[in-house]
Amino acid sequence: MAEQFKSIIEKHGTPVLVVDHEIIKANYMEFKTNLPNVQVYYAVKANPDKEILKTLFELGASFDVASFEEFSMVHEFIKDLPDDERHQFIYDKIIYANTIKPIETLKKLNPYRPLVTYDNIDELKKIKKHCPKAGLVIRIKVPNTGSMVELSSKFGIDPGDAVDLVVEAFNLGLVVEGLSFHVGSQCTNFENFVQALNLAASIFKEAKSQGHELKILDIGGGFPAPYDDSVKPFKELSNKISSEIERLFPKDIEIFAEPGRFIVATSATLFTKIIGKSIRDGKLYYYINDGVYHSFSGVVFDHCQYHFNSFKDGQRKICAVVGQTCDAFDSISLAEELPELEIEDILYTENIGAYSTASSTNFNGFPPAKVVHVNK
Ligand SMILES: Cc1ncc(COP(=O)(O)O)c(C=O)c1O
Repeated sequence: MAEQFKSIIEKHGTPVLVVDHEIIKANYMEFKTNLPNVQVYYAVKANPDKEILKTLFELGASFDVASFEEFSMVHEFIKDLPDDERHQFIYDKIIYANTIKPIETLKKLNPYRPLVTYDNIDELKKIKKHCPKAGLVIRIKVPNTGSMVELSSKFGIDPGDAVDLVVEAFNLGLVVEGLSFHVGSQCTNFENFVQALNLAASIFKEAKSQGHELKILDIGGGFPAPYDDSVKPFKELSNKISSEIERLFPKDIEIFAEPGRFIVATSATLFTKIIGKSIRDGKLYYYINDGVYHSFSGVVFDHCQYHFNSFKDGQRKICAVVGQTCDAFDSISLAEELPELEIEDILYTENIGAYSTASSTNFNGFPPAKVVHVNK
């Protein structure tokens, strides 16, 4: 085991999630190098840890927030700017990209003159009444084919109805600044991006022909993390995106993206401990001090399959790794290959920085894993 990890485990115990900020910085730089004209609005929901937000803010990132709580966390970084700079700065730094917002939230957002997404007429009326100072970004429904997490059944107006909804907003005296979409999370089918950009471009053109020029194109999240070799290199995707944007859109628009997983997934490694073992129906079960109600919540909510490694050698056998709660549902993997291990042995899981601790609970009284930051 690397000395650094050993001393972290000795100092903090397990479960412990080690977040490597060098990796966050490298992922951010990979995104920016390949898509230099795209401003990164990091999707806070992927991992809202304040240290991560700070690192990204210092690199020049902006943020996609989903709630007033996330908005407030990010606003902490920009609140000290002089008043007159703030309006532009809010647009530059934060997009509230949850298309459905409670009335209380809209009221709280209004004084900040935020940039918010919407995708239906009822939301538009709510915004008009409770947050009329907002700038708007219409979200359209686009193909999510093959993406690990599908989002299009719950969000986005049908592209065919989008221009009418833009016109409705202007008729109400609001301003639509741009258009957004999301191709689904962990989108390994790059054609989703191509199709989405083509749909977006025709809406830009039609809106312009009706006198409403859109200024922002927000290409959402979905950029896949390299969980395994089947994920094609980011460069291949960024080349496709760049050439479609170049071909389809005016040169003077602003382009946003909302990557979450791509920035943080590979930055974290989780160390857990075996707390029990037993043979069930002929298979060896390892019980560990974490589970699907905690750091492995992504198994349920994110449809993500995590794997385990140990620091021991030996012949590998098929086994199951399950969580610590009194619930049979708390099974992380029923098909791992590990050498024979003992109680108190350490397991580790890589690439677990996105949608993991973000949705961890205290179920059965077990607290979420400790988080330790390295290479800040
Ligand atoms: C509106 C919005 N933007 C961005 C993201 C981040 O997506 P990803 O982590 O796939 O990049 C999500 C994820 O659910 C989202 O809902």
